[in-house]
Amino acid sequence: MLNFIITETYKEMSGLAAERIALALKKKSDLVMALPTGGTPVGLLEEMSRMAKSGEANFAKAKSFNIDEYIPLKKDDPQSYYWFLNHYFYQHANISVENTFVPDILADDLTAECARYEQTIQAHGDFDITILGIGHDGHIGFNEPHATHSPVCHIINLNEETIEANARFFSHKEDVPQQAITLGMGTILRSKEIVLIANGKSKAAVMKQLHNCAHIDPLFPASFLLLHPNVTVICDREAASLLNI
Ligand code: PGA
Repeated sequence: MLNFIITETYKEMSGLAAERIALALKKKSDLVMALPTGGTPVGLLEEMSRMAKSGEANFAKAKSFNIDEYIPLKKDDPQSYYWFLNHYFYQHANISVENTFVPDILADDLTAECARYEQTIQAHGDFDITILGIGHDGHIGFNEPHATHSPVCHIINLNEETIEANARFFSHKEDVPQQAITLGMGTILRSKEIVLIANGKSKAAVMKQLHNCAHIDPLFPASFLLLHPNVTVICDREAASLLNI
């Protein structure tokens, strides 16, 4: 069973996850991080920015990789996930732009670009810490429920449920990209530490499923986390409201 920590508030959830990063950074100044995007990590990224500004965390040598990126959004598109990490974190922290990584969506051959991104991650010794959100369908990164999963970085077609959930960030649902590049299940599981964060009532059902899951089920991608020896799930009271703990 995965290790769950339940916090009273979203702010506490975000603070605890940020503390994990700060702790890891103290142990290894050139920390290699995989960072998530979406509604859940905003508080975490804001707290990391605050820690950077106050000097509690020093990101000068840290490396940061996007967990996923929409096709075909460019880095400077305000809907892109690179833009998101820059907006909420990079521009507020002393992290060097050359230490921030994302798949190049402008590459002519996106399959080759996925392989290049995977190699870059491996060349950095894989992630020291990966912070994950979770989709309502159990996706981690953008690894959607599917009979098979790619171990490495790859192109994925987004599920209708994911497009629906992410439509809140766009003016029209039709504007939500249908495809993305995501880290593979193996890329995530090679991380030395994994922290999954979730908040709000809408995540209560998927938290219950994650808490109860005892087997790997490719149709519930977050179940692959059972294979990893160092996963912490941090969720707020609302997301934990259906757990029997
Ligand atoms: P959310 O997305 O934080 O916007 O709920 C989570 C995810 O899809 O991983």
